[in-house]
Amino acid sequence: MSDMIEIIVDNQSYEVKEGSLLIDLLIKEQIKVPYFCYHEALGADGNCRMCMVEIVGQKRPQIACDTLVKKGMEVRSKGDNIEKVRTNILELELINHPVDCPTCDQAGECSLQDFYMDYGLHDSKITIDEKVKHNKKVDLGANVILDQERCVLCARCTRFTDKIIHSHELGIIGRGDYARVSTMPGRKLKNPYAMNVVDICPVGALTSKDFRFKQRVWFLKTANSICHGCAKGCNIYIDHNKMKYHDDVIYRFRPRRNDDVNGFFMCDEGRLSYKALQENRQEQILLRKKVISQEEAVEEIGRLLEIYHGRIVIMVDANLYTEEIKYILSFAKEVDAKVHAPLEIYNDPDFEDNMLKSSNRAANSKTIEKLKIDMSTPENIGLLINFNHPKSCEAESMVCFTTHKTEKSPFVLPLATYVESEGHVTNEEGIVQKCDKALMLNKPALTVTEWLDKVMS
Ligand code: SF4
Ligand code: SF4
Ligand code: FES
Repeated sequence: MSDMIEIIVDNQSYEVKEGSLLIDLLIKEQIKVPYFCYHEALGADGNCRMCMVEIVGQKRPQIACDTLVKKGMEVRSKGDNIEKVRTNILELELINHPVDCPTCDQAGECSLQDFYMDYGLHDSKITIDEKVKHNKKVDLGANVILDQERCVLCARCTRFTDKIIHSHELGIIGRGDYARVSTMPGRKLKNPYAMNVVDICPVGALTSKDFRFKQRVWFLKTANSICHGCAKGCNIYIDHNKMKYHDDVIYRFRPRRNDDVNGFFMCDEGRLSYKALQENRQEQILLRKKVISQEEAVEEIGRLLEIYHGRIVIMVDANLYTEEIKYILSFAKEVDAKVHAPLEIYNDPDFEDNMLKSSNRAANSKTIEKLKIDMSTPENIGLLINFNHPKSCEAESMVCFTTHKTEKSPFVLPLATYVESEGHVTNEEGIVQKCDKALMLNKPALTVTEWLDKVMS
C-alpha cells in the first residue's frame, strides 16, 4: 500500500500508515510506554506528558500521543535518558497524591501503581502533611464517586462526556495544585453511559458506587461473555469470585473492546444487569407448590407428553443460546410439538438510543429469525412447555423451565442463566458471538440441554 511507510523503534523496523499516531503503533506492538491522558476512543490530549519518547534528530523528548509518524523516523522508547524524564514527570504527577493504595478499589489495576513500579520508586520530597488536600468523596451521581486527591487530571472523564456522550456534565475547575474534576454547577453526572468513566479513569479517582469496597480485584476471576440486555450484544468481562465456604458470585460486568460491536463501552443498565441474574432465582422444582425431585419431575413431564401428544407447544426465550434453541427444535421434532417464540414482548422503544442501546431486548432474536421459528403467539394449546419465555399463554397444562421465580405455572423447574453455561448468540447485525461459562455454582441449576437429555433418556 502506497501510504505505508517504515519507521524504526528501538532498532526494529515497523510498517505503519504514514501520518498515524506514534502511540497507536507502540500500543499495537506492545512496546511499553506509560500514558494517562491518551485513550484510543478519545484521541490525544497531550496533557499528562507521560508518553515521552526520544526521536533521533529532535533536541528534546516528544510525546508519542501527539506525534505523527514520518518516513525514516527513528524512535527510542527505552534508555536511561527517557526513563529519567518519565521518573521526573511521574514525581510531579504524584506530588499531591494521597498514596492511599491499600484502601483504593483501583489497586491492582491502576496505571499509576504500574508506572510507579516501572519508573518511580523515588523517595517523595513532600511529606503527607504538605500535600494539597481535596475532597475524597464526591458523589457525582449516576453510580460514580470521585476522589479528587487521586486524580491525575488526565481529562479522560471530561472528554468522555464532551466527545462521546455530548452531555458535558464534567469539567476541570481551579488552577495549579487546586485544579480538580467537578460536575458543572447545578448538574449531576447523569447519562445512560456514565459508569464508563470508571473504566477509562486510569487511576482510582473515579470508582463505581456499586463495586466500591466489595472485592480486591486480584481475587476476581474473569470470563468473556456478551451482555444479554439487548440485541446489540456488547462484549463484556464477567468478574466473579468464589470465596471459601461461599458460592460463586458476580461482582461486576465491564465492557470488553470489540470495534465491530460496542467499541470500548457499554450502557449502565447492561452493566448492572448482573444483579438480576443472581436475585429471585427459582431454586426448587415445584409441582402444585410441592417440592419434587428431578426424577419425579421427569416422570411427570413424560406423563404429560403422552396425554397431550399432538397438542404440544413449546415456547422459546429469544435469549437462549443458539445451541439450546437448536436442541429444543430437535426435541420438538421428537415429541411432535410446535415451536413458537413471540418476539413483540422484547420490543422496548423507550430503551433505544443512537449509541448502543437497542429497542430489541432479546440477545438472540436473530437466531429465532434465522431458524424460521414461528414468532406468533400460540393458541389452543394442550400442553405448553415454556423455556424461560417471558410471555404467559393460556394452556390446559403447563411445564415452565425458568431461571427466576414465576407465577406462570404450577409446575416450575429451575433453569441455569446464561452466565452458568456457554454458547453463542447472534446480535442484531448478524454477528455471531461466544459467551464463556462464568459461574461454577455450588448447586447449579440444569441447562436446557441437560434437562432435555434427562427428559429424552
Ligand atoms: S477523574 Fe480520572 S479520568 Fe477524570 S481527570 Fe481525574 S484521573 Fe483522569
Ligand atoms: S447496549 Fe444492550 S447489549 Fe450493550 S450493554 Fe447495554 S443492554 Fe447490554
Ligand atoms: S498520553 Fe501523551 S501526553 Fe498524556
